[in-house]
Amino acid sequence: MKNYTVAVVGATGVVGKEMISMLESRKFPVGKLIPLASERSIGASITFKRQDIDVEVLTPESFIGVDFALFSAGGSVSAEYAPIAAAAGAVVIDNTSHFRMQPDVPLVVPEVNSHALAGHKGIIANPNCSTAQMVLILKPIHDAVGIERVIVSTYQSVSGAGKDAIHELESQSRANLSGQNYDGKVFKSPIAFNVIPQIDVFLKNGYTKEEMKLIEETRKILEDPSIRISATAVRVPVFVGHSESINIQTRKPITPDQVRSLLRTAPGVTVMDNPTKGQYPTPRDLAGEDNVGVGRIRKDLSIENGIELWCVGDNLRKGAALNAVQIAEVLIGNMVPA
Ligand SMILES: NC(=O)c1ccc[n+]([C@@H]2O[C@H](COP(=O)([O-])OP(=O)(O)OC[C@H]3O[C@@H](n4cnc5c(N)ncnc54)[C@H](OP(=O)(O)O)[C@@H]3O)[C@@H](O)[C@H]2O)c1
Repeated sequence: MKNYTVAVVGATGVVGKEMISMLESRKFPVGKLIPLASERSIGASITFKRQDIDVEVLTPESFIGVDFALFSAGGSVSAEYAPIAAAAGAVVIDNTSHFRMQPDVPLVVPEVNSHALAGHKGIIANPNCSTAQMVLILKPIHDAVGIERVIVSTYQSVSGAGKDAIHELESQSRANLSGQNYDGKVFKSPIAFNVIPQIDVFLKNGYTKEEMKLIEETRKILEDPSIRISATAVRVPVFVGHSESINIQTRKPITPDQVRSLLRTAPGVTVMDNPTKGQYPTPRDLAGEDNVGVGRIRKDLSIENGIELWCVGDNLRKGAALNAVQIAEVLIGNMVPA
């Protein structure tokens, strides 16, 4: 079996670390791993297959001989270095939002639209964490009865905003519990013991950039610009695991039982739906898991053809690192495409 040289850009971040862990646990055939980060990480190392590997500073020369370059170091880093990596012959799988909506860049969740990888031009985009888990649920329903409209409200964990955000929630919680104040830098409002209805910046239309990502990326992945979508993205004081309340209006009727049985056979999805026994997905259940959990599946009593449900996924896995490694697996023929 061929072994591949894999560069991870942002190797010291929460997503980069999870990528390295996924490459190892899923036995991706890595011949050489090149962890890359900024000058702040000079002297740092990561552990891969029980070996310590020094983190290198990202430069334009970092990609010579690289087969796959997994990027998760922010949009401006991807904008500058992903084209350099692709020109050097690497296949770039980018976790940032920079390339996602470019028409010639496939935006891929392998269980949903791996066919979009055909004819890629060297850069492939990974969707936003909230989009990735939602399309796993929407795809089988859309295929069965068509989706007319989606209203989604997210409850997103702080790890979605990176390592500094995790530190902020932890430090602020400890400080507040000891009766002390703690001024955060990552979030505009205190995140400890609070809920913040803003993720990313506000746009002229009143939505945030995160909300528009959910809307536009979902339409691109489901290849149906006619689906009407509205989103509210909210940050909650949870470390790992994004939750979503999703209201779906379908084109043809479908019962909650039919939704349950469709989702039971959907790849990457686990139905956890026995509310009377307290069974529904929570971030504590799904953190560290590959599958997205779905429950609270019920008829929306307020409209024709309405379904309400609740889903939870590990934002660092299906929302980022797992999805990126799965794309690479499809490209080398190790994962059966959808
Ligand atoms: N967290 C999630 O759930 C999630 C999900 C999907 C997509 N993403 C996207 O993935 C990206 C990274 O997110 P994260 O949560 O892992 O952030 P993070 O924990 O803050 O890590 C950022 C990483 O990027 C590196 N970096 C920053 N500036 C750099 C530069 N100029 N040159 C080289 N490396 C640089 C950092 O290196 P140093 O340690 O040296 O500073 C670190 O390794 C973001 O674009 C984010 O939107 C995140």
